[in-house]
Amino acid sequence: MKKTDAIAVFDSGVGGISVLGELRRLLPGERYLYFGDSANAPYGTRPTAEVQALTFAAVERLLWETPLKALVIACNTATTAAVSALRRKYPELIIIGIEPALKLAASRFPGGNIGIMATEVTLREEKLGHLMDRVADHCQIHKIPAPGLVELVEQGLADSPQAEALLSGILGPYVGKLDALVLGCTHYPFASKRISAVLGPGTALIDGGAGTARETQRRLAEAGLVENGPGSLTMTNSAPDPEMLELSWKLLHTF
Ligand code: DGL
Repeated sequence: MKKTDAIAVFDSGVGGISVLGELRRLLPGERYLYFGDSANAPYGTRPTAEVQALTFAAVERLLWETPLKALVIACNTATTAAVSALRRKYPELIIIGIEPALKLAASRFPGGNIGIMATEVTLREEKLGHLMDRVADHCQIHKIPAPGLVELVEQGLADSPQAEALLSGILGPYVGKLDALVLGCTHYPFASKRISAVLGPGTALIDGGAGTARETQRRLAEAGLVENGPGSLTMTNSAPDPEMLELSWKLLHTF
């Protein structure tokens, strides 16, 4: 593996661009290859075995495309379903997964009321259960599914009245009741403005993007693989529609 090899960043669609933004801020000298599997999004409503198969197929495609030194699974759902199996299959690759930032939320709001909004897969699998067990003594955790939100973000409607209407239905019962809401899906940070419009300024929004970028930096530094080149980004997406790539660049620049 060489410093000049690329860092692949993968998500079921455009959501992982919220993590890519943090990575580029922290590690600007790297070569990035982003792949969003929008043709198969959403992953979060599928059986876990299907998410695992799609994730493996995406990783094979990325490895075939260019030599990689690291792989960032910028999708909580794919991390939940596949990160352990990926680490077994590719032991030589630095693999970083994203998980809901519950520990960060619990440390900022000890004894607080914390919502975790995520996809069906993330909310039902035992990985989240283990994470919740570790912080359960310190706070009250509320699992909040958000059906339909990923689809709106994929349609470029993250910051729209439609998103706010959907979020009012989902988050209405929690207004005034949460100290923090953990955004446990990488698509959701793009809807932050609308989420805050519903919940109000008293609820902090916390996501795992910056923490994932810091962990990537730590792992690369440990392996002596941080690159300080001019930096570059190749954006790819499985959707045949060129508008998905336009949306991808737009989201990167607005983040
Ligand atoms: N962005 C993904 C996540 O972080 C999920 C989106 C989907 O359901 O495809 O969980």
